[in-house]
Order: sequence, then C-alpha cells, then structure tokens
Amino acid sequence: MPTYKIAVLSGDGIGKEVMPEAIKVLDTVGRLCGIGFDYTHFDWSCETWLKTGQMMPEDGMSQLAQNDAILLGAVGYPGVPDHLSLWGLLLKIRREFDQYVNLRPVRLLPGIPCPLANKQPGDVDFWIVRENVEGEYSQVGGRFAEGTEAEGVVQSAVFTKFGTDRILRYAFELARKLGRPHVTSATKSNGLYHSMPYWDERFAAIGAEYPDVRMDQYHIDILAARFVMSPERFDVVVGSNLFGDILSDLGPGMTGTIAVAPSANINPEKKYPSMFEPVHGSAPDIFGQNIANPIGQIWAASMMLDHLGEAEAAALILKAMTDVLSDQSAPRTPDMGGLARTSDVGTAIAKALTSGI
Ligand code: NAD
Ligand code: IPM
Ligand code: MN
Repeated sequence: MPTYKIAVLSGDGIGKEVMPEAIKVLDTVGRLCGIGFDYTHFDWSCETWLKTGQMMPEDGMSQLAQNDAILLGAVGYPGVPDHLSLWGLLLKIRREFDQYVNLRPVRLLPGIPCPLANKQPGDVDFWIVRENVEGEYSQVGGRFAEGTEAEGVVQSAVFTKFGTDRILRYAFELARKLGRPHVTSATKSNGLYHSMPYWDERFAAIGAEYPDVRMDQYHIDILAARFVMSPERFDVVVGSNLFGDILSDLGPGMTGTIAVAPSANINPEKKYPSMFEPVHGSAPDIFGQNIANPIGQIWAASMMLDHLGEAEAAALILKAMTDVLSDQSAPRTPDMGGLARTSDVGTAIAKALTSGI
C-alpha cells in the first residue's frame, strides 16, 4: 500500500476547523483506494509567533522537507502583523521550496447559486496559473527619509527572465495538456513602466514556442471586467504574483463563494514538497462558530492526491463533493445559504464517498 507522509499545518483561525474535515475525507478515500497517510501535525501559527517571535522553529523547513506534501489551512490572525506572519510561514514555504506555480481552478459547481446572471456549471470553468515566488511580492525596497517631510517608501517588484519564462511555459504546457489550447495573459504594460512590458515581451517569446496555442492578453483592469462579463472565454489565465492573487479571489467570488476554492503551490520538479491549501484565509470574523465551509480545504486535499499521482482518489473526492452540492437536501454552511456546521459538510462528503448520498 503506498503511504504518503503529509505535513499538516492547520495554522490560524478557521484553518483549525476545516482541516479535520479534509483529513476525514482523505482517510475515507484512503481506505477505499488502498492509500495510507502518515500525518505529522505542526501547530505553527500566530500563537507560536506570540510565544517565540517566530512562526516556525529554526529547523522548521528541514522538518517539512521530510514530507511528500504539505496540507495547509490558513495563516494570519489579528494581533500579529500580517506581513510578519505570512512572510514567516506561508510565503517562506512557497519561496524556500520553490513552489513557483500557484494553480487555482475557477469552476462554477452545481448547487451553488452563481452571482452572475444565467450561468450554469460549465460556463465558468478555467484555470489561473499564478507566479508564486517573485514579482510584486518582494522585500526589496524600504523606507526613506523617515521622520522628515520627505518620508516615503519604495516597494520593488522583481521579474527575472528565468522566473517569468518558467511560469509562462507552465501555463502553455497546461493548456496543451488540458486540450484547451488557449492562454490569456494578465498585464498592465500601459501603467507599469518596467515590469509589465517585460512580462509581455516574455509572453510573446514563450508563446512563439507553442504555435498551436492561441494567445491573448488584457490589461488587468479590463481583464477583471471580462471575467465578470464573459467568463466562458477563458481556458488558462496566467498572471504575476499580485495579479494572480486578485484574479483568484475574483474568479471564485464569481462562482458564488470563495470558500470552496482550492490552491496548489507546486514545485513541478518535485525537488521539494508541494503545498495545498484553500484560497481563503483564517476568517477571524467567523472563527469559533464551526460554520466555516470546509470544501476549499477538501478540494485542496483532492489536488494534493492528484499531485501525488493518485488521480483516481482525487477524482472520487471531487465527485463526492459535487454529488453533495447537487443534492438540495445535503448540509450547506451559511456562506452558501444554509445552517449546517463545518463538520456536517465534511461528514456528508465522506459518507458520499462510501455509500453515495
Ligand atoms: P478571508 O478569506 O479569511 O475572509 C474573507 C471573508 O470570507 C470573510 O468574511 C470570511 O468569513 C469569509 N470566508 C473565508 N473563508 C470561509 C469559509 N471557509 N467559509 C465561510 N466563509 C469564509 O480573508 P481576509 O479577511 O482578507 O483575511 C483574514 C486573515 O487571513 C488575514 O490575516 C489574511 O492575511 C489571512 N489570509 C491567509 C491566507 C492563507 O493562509 N492562504 C489567504 C487569505 C488571507
Ligand atoms: C493567498 C493569500 C496570500 C497571498 C496572502 C495571505 C499573503 O491571499 O494565498 O491568496 O497573497 O498569496
Ligand atoms: Mn489571496
């Protein structure tokens, strides 16, 4: 029986509430498909920072490196400045494990009311490929002339040729693999003087290697509008770290709730473990009520199985999830208009795996 070593980082807030549901579902599918999971739980969170001044111990990264994959809940909580908690854990892992691809599906699922008029499942179904380790997310820069009239701050964006080319290439390869040979690039080369003209130049250069893949590009502002007005036109959308971040909340928002959206932080070369997490954060506004929707975390677990080469188990989870969503009488958390608890939804998906709904 294949057994995978999984690092579990529930993190902060509702990360702690949705994670047990993903584990419940993983254990169920594991029993069905003959897959074992050897979990190591790490309690690193904002509480760790408050106690130690760090989000993880000194040897934290080498502890994580022992695992086949990382399943993460959410990081960040009031009381700890967000840039410190995120750069100390989530962004640190993405960067040090060179998880340069952030793959995020945007899919309208059955049974979730769509805020866009007249859309059915299938009408909104595309992938965002977000550059995940450089770009606008950078520690380059700093404050100047502090305490004077001239005080200010510089925040630099870094786009290397290596980093830009490899994410663009990943997007083109994905479009081919999906049999949907069309890549849309998010740009802003009219306003950003250096970075985005360079991004466009590399998009054209890498695209030339894929003559069979149709290419288009839009400035991020009109692209956001086109997402809402005609989501059918997209197949694979590639964007820089910041543009990809914004688009990957806009996309799921268009499909009714961000709470179901998953995210795969991938090191395609498999030199380091990849990390799987929901798109959403720690939701302090609802933490402690057991009403968080666990579907984003469960779908992230399915993406993790896909990455580990367990495509059948991954597909079974997706099917159980959509079966539950399609059943009007199945439990729904308040973000989807229901009254169910987090654990009711996890249990319903686990049950749908074994005995149908
Ligand atoms: P958020 O995603 O935590 O919450 C946004 C809104 O969506 C809130 O109203 C919340 O209640 C709701 N929501 C989110 N997930 C939900 C779920 N599973 N079920 C039901 N409702 C859900 O974003 P935010 O408020 O901007 O951030 C809160 C904290 O989380 C901050 O510290 C932020 O930095 C952090 N954050 C972390 C991650 C991550 O770890 N990947 C992602 C985003 C935000
Ligand atoms: C995400 C989050 C993170 C990001 C934050 C919490 C740093 O919003 O995973 O989308 O911007 O990447
Ligand atoms: Mn985000």
